[in-house]
Amino acid sequence: MTSQNIYILGIESSCDDTAASVIQNGRILSNVVATQKIHEEYGGVVPELASRAHQQNIVPVVHQAIEKAGITKEQLNAIAFTRGPGLMGSLLVGTSFAKSFAYGLNIPLIDVNHMQAHILAHFIDEEGFDKPEFPFLAMTISGGHTQIVNVNDYFDMEVIGETIDDAVGEAYDKSGKILGLGYPAGPEIDKRAQQGNPKAFKFTKPKVDGLNFSFSGLKTAILYFIQRETKQNPKFIEDNLNDICASIQYTIIGILIDKLKLATKQTGIRQIAIGGGVSANSGIRKALKEGEQKFGWKTYVPKFEFTTDNAAMIAIVGYLKYLEQDFAKQDITASARLKI
Ligand code: KG4
Ligand code: ZN
Repeated sequence: MTSQNIYILGIESSCDDTAASVIQNGRILSNVVATQKIHEEYGGVVPELASRAHQQNIVPVVHQAIEKAGITKEQLNAIAFTRGPGLMGSLLVGTSFAKSFAYGLNIPLIDVNHMQAHILAHFIDEEGFDKPEFPFLAMTISGGHTQIVNVNDYFDMEVIGETIDDAVGEAYDKSGKILGLGYPAGPEIDKRAQQGNPKAFKFTKPKVDGLNFSFSGLKTAILYFIQRETKQNPKFIEDNLNDICASIQYTIIGILIDKLKLATKQTGIRQIAIGGGVSANSGIRKALKEGEQKFGWKTYVPKFEFTTDNAAMIAIVGYLKYLEQDFAKQDITASARLKI
């Protein structure tokens, strides 16, 4: 039993969100995210601009997280940071900052794997949110990754399926680009999908063996479909936008659920947790609930603010590693392709 209070600062800078969070034992005291708007005008993340924006944001964001938590920096027990995977230039900002800050405060430094953090976000103490029991399956669905992971323990995880090309969030964002929507397009497609007919248009699902995914073919199919239809009716997108979004969403969710069905069959595990930006999606949330009735699944969906990139998930992993005294050395480096 820990009667003592442990305060961990988590820092996340793997992509285009600069984030910092303070956790007291398992409970979040502050969760600050500065989302970089600059990428919207380019229709995707521009790595060079991302690292520059991280450099602007990191000190104010960390300062705010500590202030909002109502503690002083001297009360921190350790600094946890995202070591990877992600964009190298972005990771370097958070990594260098965390190392210097921990060194200056003379407290331990803890490296965190971003993909593990999306999964372990489920262990943040939150009223109304149950924690999964081991073993469970985790499906991480974001703009950069699509994986199914067999989770035996906090730090005993095995990737049993992943995308061989685009991530599911990319499928949303690239489809959105074809439809002339802003970046990132996932939330808008989701919103429109709820007002459209999911069976209005049919897109074939990719055939990929086992538990792996592929989304690049779907993007091409959507592109050709739109090109064909707009030749006949230049206002085709405008006239059918909600139905197109609903049909795309229906296809994508179908792909995800098919693979989850196969994964539960292969592993015999029926506890499923999702994480990553796309886990905010209403379609996947509804489909998982249906899976509870239809297939006897027990499913876990994170609180909305812990779905997209955030530092609370980095802080909780920091806390779990702190309990095991699993610290990093000062010569640690960022790792863009870090694996689970
Ligand atoms: O986890 P995240 O913030 O960053 C990465 O690590 O990639 O995920 C961002 C992705 C984007 O592709 C965005 O379009 C998608 O999550 N996204 C959604 C929704 N909200 C965010 N996709 C579908 N439906 C949503 N409601
Ligand atoms: Zn992420």
